[in-house]
Amino acid sequence: MAAPHAGAGADRGDAETGPVLSDSSSGDVKRPQFGTRFLTDPRQVFQHNAWDNVEWTEEQEAAAKKKVLENNQPLPTEKQDEYDNRANEYWNDFYTIHENRFFKDRHWLFTEFPELAPKSGLNCASHPQKEVTALLHNDDASPGSSASCRILEVGCGVGNTVFPILKTNNDPGLFVYCCDFSSTAVELVKTNPEYDPERCFAFVHDLSDVEANYPVPDGTLDVIVLIFVLSALHPNKMQASINRLARLLKPGGVMLLRDYGRYDMAQLRFKKGRCLSENFYVRGDGTRVYFFTQDELHELYSEAGLEKVQNMVDRRLQVNRGKQLTMYRVWIQCKYRKPLVEQSETPG
Ligand SMILES: C[S@@+](CC[C@H](N)C(=O)[O-])C[C@H]1O[C@@H](n2cnc3c(N)ncnc32)[C@H](O)[C@@H]1O
Repeated sequence: MAAPHAGAGADRGDAETGPVLSDSSSGDVKRPQFGTRFLTDPRQVFQHNAWDNVEWTEEQEAAAKKKVLENNQPLPTEKQDEYDNRANEYWNDFYTIHENRFFKDRHWLFTEFPELAPKSGLNCASHPQKEVTALLHNDDASPGSSASCRILEVGCGVGNTVFPILKTNNDPGLFVYCCDFSSTAVELVKTNPEYDPERCFAFVHDLSDVEANYPVPDGTLDVIVLIFVLSALHPNKMQASINRLARLLKPGGVMLLRDYGRYDMAQLRFKKGRCLSENFYVRGDGTRVYFFTQDELHELYSEAGLEKVQNMVDRRLQVNRGKQLTMYRVWIQCKYRKPLVEQSETPG
């Protein structure tokens, strides 16, 4: 198969992050989880818009590695610090420009993450409700205190995940919290006509600020969702951020993640001068992105005391049939659960 071929466009590859839902240019046909259209005859590559589970050849992998190594010339520390200190300002600028026009609703959510759909029965009833209610003090003033199922989305942007959850999951006990460190994004969520304060609470929060409080106590969330968010953090801040989130989960609660995988098209498109550190880059608009391996994510979650339910790489070949371009996407999808009985820290 040919080496990765970057399509035309900017250095941002997350405009359509996630599985392709339609299987014709105009259709809206839901595909099964991770898709089942496999390219067996390379001559047929331009016959469909996307191919699932694409195997990379050794040459293709070696070419990708070489490209990444060539670009691995980190920017000076002062520049790096500036991107880190002003990270939320760059995202504010992004949302001031694009408002809610950039990311698409993550309708694939319920195929990949049935935990978010109504009556999945996976988490919401798994921990005695009485214990959780005690933690929440049943305080009427705090949002979602009387809910029986609590989901938190971190890095919610303008709500492309939250609103589909609220629309699809009609469980009367459901309450959805969502946060982003961009106040512009959170404002766009709150002013969306679909924002219902009875069922949802949006707030400004920096995931990497592990001292900052969340509006829920530890041990009270059923599901935490991270969609193309962890990759925006400085790699040095990822472990502490995941540890902090893990504390918010109930025993049996689950953290769901979908994010960029190593050698995704978006990584290979970066030109020299955009690299911050290994596999970590800054886009032209000042926002940053890291490209993970499955092992790195496994390490982060295990270190936070969570157990693997799923850790998959989703390699897809997207095709622009009009322009005859091929785009090799690599995404990683993880589900990690908090054990029902927490491991004691000192063995024996
Ligand atoms: C690629 S966008 C994804 C948005 C949304 N999850 C979606 O799928 O449409 C990344 C989002 O993460 C947010 N973000 C980045 N770093 C963050 C941090 N440290 N704390 C909270 N949000 C952050 C950005 O403001 C942006 O909204």
